[in-house]
Amino acid sequence: MRRKIKRAVSHLRSLWRHRRHLKNVVNTHLYFIENPNTSLWGGITTADEEGLRASVALAAKYPGPIVEVGTLFGWTTQLLATLKAPERELISIDNYCWNPFCLSQADHRAITHRSLRYCLERCNTSLFEGTTHEFYRRYRGATPSMVFIDADHSYRESNADIQWARDMGVPIITGHDYQALHPGVIQAVNEQFGKAFELHGSVWIAENKTPKRAAA
Ligand SMILES: C[S@@+](CC[C@H](N)C(=O)[O-])C[C@H]1O[C@@H](n2cnc3c(N)ncnc32)[C@H](O)[C@@H]1O
Repeated sequence: MRRKIKRAVSHLRSLWRHRRHLKNVVNTHLYFIENPNTSLWGGITTADEEGLRASVALAAKYPGPIVEVGTLFGWTTQLLATLKAPERELISIDNYCWNPFCLSQADHRAITHRSLRYCLERCNTSLFEGTTHEFYRRYRGATPSMVFIDADHSYRESNADIQWARDMGVPIITGHDYQALHPGVIQAVNEQFGKAFELHGSVWIAENKTPKRAAA
């Protein structure tokens, strides 16, 4: 009996010590349990997958790498790697600032590397580990054939992601979460493309006609 009480007290102490972290874990778990139709634990839904299939098929006509903005654990990275031609380069960007399980940045990174081991070693896939802004500033490669945007869903950042892709003259610009939960995404896509985009689930796809902007 004494041992049981001691264990219960130690358990309660541990809960109290980690209360802030646990509150975040509970909140995000409740959110994803209660909203299974909007996202699969931060990733795309099965309906959304059709959008990625359609985007990669459209991008196949153009040269250049596929750029994914927002790797998380590599679920869509693996889907893109499966859909693309083996020789096509795939670059995925993440700074590990968010994940739905409240993992530390180091654990998030380690899990992503383990999940993506095969792609990274065998599928012409690489990770850019930094912010989108760092990537956009440093990127000197060929014009991508496609950019898939699924990182920061605020209006400002969604707009910046789309603007970079347009300035680069990327022919297929696509992204996740065109849905009421993410008004910033809706506003940025509407402002940039009017009605000229398709929707598959919450994945939007725009064929960009803007030519590459000359460097200043
Ligand atoms: C919604 S998740 C991506 C989901 C992933 N595309 C999938 O469906 O499997 C968003 C990811 O974007 C990353 N992220 C958010 N803002 C970022 C930024 N400014 N720069 C780089 N990565 C960012 C987060 O760390 C997170 O892993």
